[in-house]
Amino acid sequence: MKVLMVCLGNICRSPLAEGVLSDKIKKAGLNWQVDSAGTSNYHIDEEPDPRSQENALQHDINISHLRGRQFVKEDFQFFDKIYVMDDSNYQNVVKLASNQEDTDKVDLLLNQANPGSNHNVPDPYFGGSGGFENVFQLIDKACDAIIKQYS
Ligand code: 4NP
Repeated sequence: MKVLMVCLGNICRSPLAEGVLSDKIKKAGLNWQVDSAGTSNYHIDEEPDPRSQENALQHDINISHLRGRQFVKEDFQFFDKIYVMDDSNYQNVVKLASNQEDTDKVDLLLNQANPGSNHNVPDPYFGGSGGFENVFQLIDKACDAIIKQYS
């Protein structure tokens, strides 16, 4: 399975989600691919936010090699599932869909652990470091649910 994690900047939430899911894929011995992207062009080629990197490392996950990129229409062709962090990411991604098949690939990440709940992963960019651990815990549960559902 090919999975894409999407947020706004691709420096806080989605690189963490990519790192967490990659770690679980490796531990489960699965042959999946995972990537992440942002709907904006604000942080192209940048490393993940230092607070995301530090939070990941606290959980023995290294995301320092990841670099920001912008979501592109072609991502609909390559990926099977596109998990977005919040409603605004959803709107921005679905805007680029060519057909219903594309749209059906997109869902809120937190719906994976709590189907139909439509909860957002809060944007931690303008908050303190505590926001990043909260984000990690939400992402971690959702990624467990993804592995359970599709492996
Ligand atoms: P992310 O967080 O979408 O989780 O990567 C943000 C990063 C940067 C900005 C906003 C959110 N920004 O406005 O630059």
